[in-house]
Amino acid sequence: MPRPILIDTDPGQDDAVALLLALASPAELQLLGITTVAGNVPLELTTRNALMMVELAGRPQVAVYAGCDRPMVRPLVTAEYVHGKTGIDGAGTPAPTTEAAAGHAVDFIVQTALATPGLTVCTLGPLTNLGTALERSPEIGDNIEQIVLMGGGFFEGGNTTPAAEFNIYVDPQAADIVFRAGIPLVMMPLDVTHQALTSDARVEAFKALGNAAGGATAGMLEFFERYDMERYGTRGAPLHDPTVIAYLLEPELFGGRQCWVEIETTSELTMGMTVVDWWGLTNHEPNCLVINQIDDERFFGLLIERLGRLP
Ligand code: RIB
Ligand code: CA
Repeated sequence: MPRPILIDTDPGQDDAVALLLALASPAELQLLGITTVAGNVPLELTTRNALMMVELAGRPQVAVYAGCDRPMVRPLVTAEYVHGKTGIDGAGTPAPTTEAAAGHAVDFIVQTALATPGLTVCTLGPLTNLGTALERSPEIGDNIEQIVLMGGGFFEGGNTTPAAEFNIYVDPQAADIVFRAGIPLVMMPLDVTHQALTSDARVEAFKALGNAAGGATAGMLEFFERYDMERYGTRGAPLHDPTVIAYLLEPELFGGRQCWVEIETTSELTMGMTVVDWWGLTNHEPNCLVINQIDDERFFGLLIERLGRLP
């Protein structure tokens, strides 16, 4: 039986590739819906981009619900400097012909969780929608089997401030609610995503698929990777968000450790830092599987094989 999942996202080129991976894997993943949040770009654009991806994947029936247009407490911070004005610069895909579903993403998350025991929630952006849903209806935690999230960093530090990764930095208060909710967490921090780097050969492999999804992915990655290559001097960019979906499809590609993780929500210096008790120095019970290992060759092999199944 396919695993019931919900994806919360702020497309973003890497989110877009994660969506395509999930949409290409219906035998393993029953995608109940997509919820969008303000993050990489404002909500109107993250919603538009999610609609474009479900159409590109040939699955326009997958509902997209627009969610929160700003963090729970702090002002919105966006990342056009990484993703471009549209959020998915380089995609070259046509404007969406479908609309977002009626209703708010937070309501959809609550209703879906209440109706779906064993639900897996995948978050690829700031945790505003999920944090709001948990604050309003904490009982949904009883039905959420696990939350797999891209966010945070520890030995790798941050990518938005020296201490904080973007998804957590944008809405630390929402992240704090999620990390305290008592729901099993799997965290894909920069420590693992910075090992999943694009390259010329990998971009060419998407292009060589010869389908619309492969061409759009190659175009997005060629745009997306320029920022990280300049910033980090690497040959390629970390493909952050697809690690969340790949973990559900092939968990054996990953390794990590159960740790206690808490979110900094007080100090401006370290606001949004994921404080990871990697060495068990506190008496806190672990609340999160922190992933720090990936077989990147097999990860990209999975991506290319699955996206090859799309139109
Ligand atoms: O820090 C990387 C994360 O922030 C990714 O999810 C990227 O899409 C942005 O949302
Ligand atoms: Ca994202």
